[in-house]
Amino acid sequence: MITITNDFVHLATKNNSYLLHINKYGDLENLHYGCKINSADFHLLLRRRSFIVNTLFAKDDMTYCIDGINFEYSFPFRGDSGSCACHVADDECGMADFVVSKVFKAPQTEQDMPVPSGGESVCIELADKIRDGLTLQLWYVVYEELDVICRYVKIINKTEMDVKLSKVMSAQYDMPKGDKKAVIFDGAWGRERAKKVVPIIGAIAAGSFSGMSSAECSPFFMVEDASATQCSGNVYCFNLMYSGSHEISVECTPYDSIRVLHGVQSDAFNYVVNSGESFVTPVSVSTFSDKGEGTASVNMQKFAGDIVIPKKHIPIMLNSWESVYFDLNEAKLQEFAAKAKSLGFDGVVVDDGWFIGRDDDTTSLGDWFEDRRKFPHGIKAYADYLHSMDMAFGIWIEPEMVSERSQLYKAHPDWALKCKNAREIVGRNQLILDLTKPEVADYVYEALQRLVTEYGADYIKWDFNRRFADVPRGEGSEYFYKYYRALYQILRKFTANYPDVILENCASGGGRFDLGMMSYAPIGWVSDNTDPLSRAEIQQGTSYGFPIRAMLNHISASPSHQTKRATNFDARKNTAFIGSFGAQYDVTKISDSECEQIKNAICEYKALQPIIQNASLYRLSDNENYVVWQVDSGDVGLVYIMQKRFYTVSSLPGIRLIHLDENATYMLQFDNFKFEASGLTLQNYGVPLPMNYQGCGDGAINLTDMSTILIKFQKI
Ligand code: GLA
Repeated sequence: MITITNDFVHLATKNNSYLLHINKYGDLENLHYGCKINSADFHLLLRRRSFIVNTLFAKDDMTYCIDGINFEYSFPFRGDSGSCACHVADDECGMADFVVSKVFKAPQTEQDMPVPSGGESVCIELADKIRDGLTLQLWYVVYEELDVICRYVKIINKTEMDVKLSKVMSAQYDMPKGDKKAVIFDGAWGRERAKKVVPIIGAIAAGSFSGMSSAECSPFFMVEDASATQCSGNVYCFNLMYSGSHEISVECTPYDSIRVLHGVQSDAFNYVVNSGESFVTPVSVSTFSDKGEGTASVNMQKFAGDIVIPKKHIPIMLNSWESVYFDLNEAKLQEFAAKAKSLGFDGVVVDDGWFIGRDDDTTSLGDWFEDRRKFPHGIKAYADYLHSMDMAFGIWIEPEMVSERSQLYKAHPDWALKCKNAREIVGRNQLILDLTKPEVADYVYEALQRLVTEYGADYIKWDFNRRFADVPRGEGSEYFYKYYRALYQILRKFTANYPDVILENCASGGGRFDLGMMSYAPIGWVSDNTDPLSRAEIQQGTSYGFPIRAMLNHISASPSHQTKRATNFDARKNTAFIGSFGAQYDVTKISDSECEQIKNAICEYKALQPIIQNASLYRLSDNENYVVWQVDSGDVGLVYIMQKRFYTVSSLPGIRLIHLDENATYMLQFDNFKFEASGLTLQNYGVPLPMNYQGCGDGAINLTDMSTILIKFQKI
């Protein structure tokens, strides 16, 4: 609920208060973001410091010391000792002086950047004292039940001049310091979103510079008590609904505060808001819990799952990539489809290699027309074949790219991003198309449309396999913002016109697993790495900010094509189950017994799918040798346990479940074990697991290296 009283703006969620104060100078202060507080006490929170040496204060008020204030959104050259959130200038003056001019409630409208639906919104508008007609709006969207607050900033230029933005964060969160740490999720291809704890000493700068949200640093991060655990402590989670370069900064001020800044990467950023135009930042999402990382991250999972990411039934698809790579053709794929059908798959995704001339990764991107050498009867005939078996047809495309060896490049070399005279930087032999050119955006849209209208696609795997390098002349990193504005427009139009087509979001694995792309795609390919040991860690990192149903996981061959590690079927299957399930596996070449395993796995997953669809994931173990998750979906759920290494004469860690009904009895079941236990015992003692004694027969479980068990529990 949002209340505006006197000079206070209070954003209240189920468990939290976010309190702003407009002071008599028109500055906006953040008085509190955390657990609920009583409105009768708001005035007590006005922090005032008097006579701090070397700080600035108002002429007529010796108690108004800039350094003693937690600002809501800071500007440079205004006496603030921390980094600014936004720098506005024009040719005549290098600063702005914004003061609050009005506060109003209004519903959300469509913006250039993805905006979440629903919620209750308020806008605090600031006017520049230097330029008549320049306003800056701070927008807040409150999701009361989810304990989530979204923020974004809009700058409206009604002056005669153009103004320049060299930095414009989506949000600033000033908070009392206490003893806190930051948690970021960094990595690389094949090891995306690895949790990294960073002590907050001085300043932390993280983010991405590559024009994509990146595998190197997720836009999701946390700031929390140094002592916070999964189940205890104050935890703030932040996410950004954006797919381009982003910036995360956490800095200590000398006056016992922490300033968190979050938004579009400001390195080399210089955006001109022309007279009469406006600029809107991506949306920053935040949530807070005093109950540890588990609850805070489940708030974020729920927000992403319930509000942002489209909810669709996801068919179980068999993907051709790790089965045949580029060596695909109609006959092979027909055999593939028939086998897939007999195993219970819902459809087939024809991955890279189907379009003219694409025999390897040096050629043809941009030429999105069927290769008749490989598909003599056309792609549509293959789609019809699948449809005749009541299966879905999925197809891969990398619509934002062009190969230099392609008809498209030959016809339109100027459509590719390439800076004249600069050394050429190609990633995977390809260049990125300049989507900010309307004719390029139209071409891309038509290619996507063709997949549906001419080729009969029900499912599109949208890939993006290189990072940005060159930017067009006259542009800095603000180009990426313009690029994504154009890309989101294409996505918005496509999803509006073809609401039934399922989009899979992929970028060399999980290189753009973010709430920007996921505003349009119900699922994202978490990583190219499907080895279950690596995958469990990647899914675990991803679970902090995203719901499991949005994580597309595949069971694939052993040894893994990425790590060369051999693993058992159950580990691959159980790990892939914790998300939207599929496979990339050459099912035409495997043994009958392996076929049987896959068939059973599909049946098993179909039964679990309703649980997975709406589940939250809690991480239950801090033991380095185990990955333990509780997949919670009300009265029914799953416990996933992965043992990384087997140690002789060792027992499994105690696994205490959470959020159960203490007075109820639960049925637990896995492999040949089936038993009942009370909610009270499962929470306070843990799951009474048998001994883990490799080689022993009855009554023990047999967890070896990299092996898993999946326990189903249900309230009875
Ligand atoms: C990327 C994707 C893979 C596959 C290949 C095809 O690497 O992550 O899943 O689609 O491209 O070239």
